[in-house]
Amino acid sequence: MSTQQIPPRAYVDSAHHENELNGLFRQSWIFAGLKLELQGNVHQGMRLGNKDILLQCDESGKPRAFLNVCSHRHARLCEPGKHRGYVRCPYHSWVYDKGGVPLSMPQKQAFPQVVAEPEKFRLHEFACETAGQFIFVRMSESGPSLRDYLGSQYGFLERASEGMDTVLDEFREDVAANWKVVIENALEGYHVPSVHSGTFMEVDGMSREKDAPRFFFDDARHSHLEHDANADWVARFQRMESRIGRWPWRFEHYTHHHIFPNLTVTSFMGYSFHVQRFDPTTAETSTVHSRTIGVAFEGGTEAGKKMMEHIYADGHAFTKKVFAEDGGICAKVQAGVRNATKLAVLGEGIEDRVRHFHHAYVAAQPIEGQE
Ligand code: FES
Ligand SMILES: [Fe+2]
Repeated sequence: MSTQQIPPRAYVDSAHHENELNGLFRQSWIFAGLKLELQGNVHQGMRLGNKDILLQCDESGKPRAFLNVCSHRHARLCEPGKHRGYVRCPYHSWVYDKGGVPLSMPQKQAFPQVVAEPEKFRLHEFACETAGQFIFVRMSESGPSLRDYLGSQYGFLERASEGMDTVLDEFREDVAANWKVVIENALEGYHVPSVHSGTFMEVDGMSREKDAPRFFFDDARHSHLEHDANADWVARFQRMESRIGRWPWRFEHYTHHHIFPNLTVTSFMGYSFHVQRFDPTTAETSTVHSRTIGVAFEGGTEAGKKMMEHIYADGHAFTKKVFAEDGGICAKVQAGVRNATKLAVLGEGIEDRVRHFHHAYVAAQPIEGQE
């Protein structure tokens, strides 16, 4: 039994953190961004696990992921974030095309081998595949396809992508806790009454039926839940429909998906989606990159558009408040887990998604000194 659970030291030990980055984070498909963020002539720098990655679409529009290191003398090509135009190295100005091949360089007569066979000097490339708008990168050379890795979540991400058209809100926040503490916090609602007593009670479109959330464990690594919207909330949207219009995928619940290891996608009724990636930065710290993606409405009025803007603005403020509360409690968990000597106690039912995460984690990442 005990081997199925993550022991306390896996949340604090820096050697284990290194093994995790070189193991689990290399083997898994890691969410890198959305196709809609790579439109136009842009490229993006980011860190996934312990690798600096450069993401761009090639001439055919397919997202490609490269190591963010110049083939010449290994300068980092671009800083984190979005940049316009072709990739140009800041050191000696080699320029790379959309497929990562050197396109031009100053004083090219000095590099006859590169001029003769530029393909040979292509940037190191990683596996990169998409499910709808969602771009994933796998750092290890071999492993399952994205579709096999995602299982039933593949269809969900494709469906969720149908109407996505803009990033409405985006933020990055540091959390003083191991990424797994933050993920586990996102996987249970048991803490809600004590940690979010003020926030969740104010804005709540959710049914209060005791057995309202339904958990789904169709995949060995991932899980999701659905929580029905309450009748008043659904009726309110029905009344507004003639003004706000229709959107491509409307459902009458809140849904929360965890895609192993470090992505969550949540939505209430499908009119927007929250996409959050939890990046490990050290053994005891992480950064959350959060985006709210809006979907396209059809047949709405100007007044309806204003209504949705209000709903979105309330949503952003709510997300940030909840996030700050979760960040605060996660820091306390980290402070405690540093001193912990026993395995955590996981509740039946209410903490089943945490348990599912532990199983997936232990299967993916050997824990030293534990058979
Ligand atoms: S190191 Fe990149 S051009 Fe020289
Ligand atoms: Fe929370």
